[in-house]
Amino acid sequence: MPTFTATAPGKIILFGEHAVVYGHPALAVPVTKVCAKAIITGESQAKVPEMRVVAPDIGLDAPLSGLKPGNPAREVIKSVFATLGVTQIPPCTLTVTSTIPIASGLGSGAAISAAIIRALSAFLKHPLPNEQVSALAYEIEKIHHGTPSGIDNTVIAFEKPVYFVKPLPSLNGRGTGGEGPAIQTFSIPQPFTILIGNTGISSLTKETVGDVRQAWQANPKRYQRIFAAVGSIAKAARHAIESGHPARLGPLMDENHYFLQEMGVSSPELDRLVNAARQAGALGAKLSGGGRGGNMIALAEKPQADAVAQAMLKAGAMGIIITQVGE
Ligand code: PMV
Repeated sequence: MPTFTATAPGKIILFGEHAVVYGHPALAVPVTKVCAKAIITGESQAKVPEMRVVAPDIGLDAPLSGLKPGNPAREVIKSVFATLGVTQIPPCTLTVTSTIPIASGLGSGAAISAAIIRALSAFLKHPLPNEQVSALAYEIEKIHHGTPSGIDNTVIAFEKPVYFVKPLPSLNGRGTGGEGPAIQTFSIPQPFTILIGNTGISSLTKETVGDVRQAWQANPKRYQRIFAAVGSIAKAARHAIESGHPARLGPLMDENHYFLQEMGVSSPELDRLVNAARQAGALGAKLSGGGRGGNMIALAEKPQADAVAQAMLKAGAMGIIITQVGE
């Protein structure tokens, strides 16, 4: 029985969330300690008359025809069929599992999409390149996020650190997003330790992005200033990483967190974890992703990482991932 397995990592945004939606740069890196996995097993016609979709984590076991329109798994599968011009689907079972916490800013939706696209296209004998995996996952991100910048699907499909600038279609000649190519990968000569602390509160990115949009519409000047400041921080952060000075990211993270508070997307729980990490010796800390819940990140020297983790747990973190970025 032929089996096709594909995985895709989680991700964190290091700098630039929210401002990225308005054309400013953001930095994100893959987190390979967690991943989504898709396995396709071809089965005989008699046993399974059509494609079966199994996701034990969410108690799903249904034929493809039983999934409602708008169901992300159904939409991913259909988009692969449409891309490859497939009309007759060989009977098979798709099993999806993931160790990436849901709705917490670690890119679980994009990773699940990417894993399914890879496994399914390989099963159909047309493995898709990263560009196409990313583009298809982006379409599904729209179901999750409304108006996604595209950073999640990009970093997850390419599995590389990404400096991302969302292309803005209507800039009226004075926009903010016109610099260089939209996606640049960059190198990390000096790896660094990031702790990811989960508040345990799920928060919908669609909602925080919508709230920031409303606040920006009500007060465009103030928000444009904040977004531009965050964009400059992301640029400085890339320079610090590429020039081998990751410790310089600490103060930049603190500054970026301040601006996220100003945007109204932090929360008491996130602030508590950020402060606890700083007090325990982290070089800097900030929320990561959509905010109001989900995750925060802290930069620590390796020997301090355990003490920072303990402090974050004491301050209410529901889970901690310690990851070496750039290894
Ligand atoms: O919550 P996450 O990690 O999926 O990230 C959202 C990042 C935002 O900048 C807030 C939105 C976006 O689409 O880039």
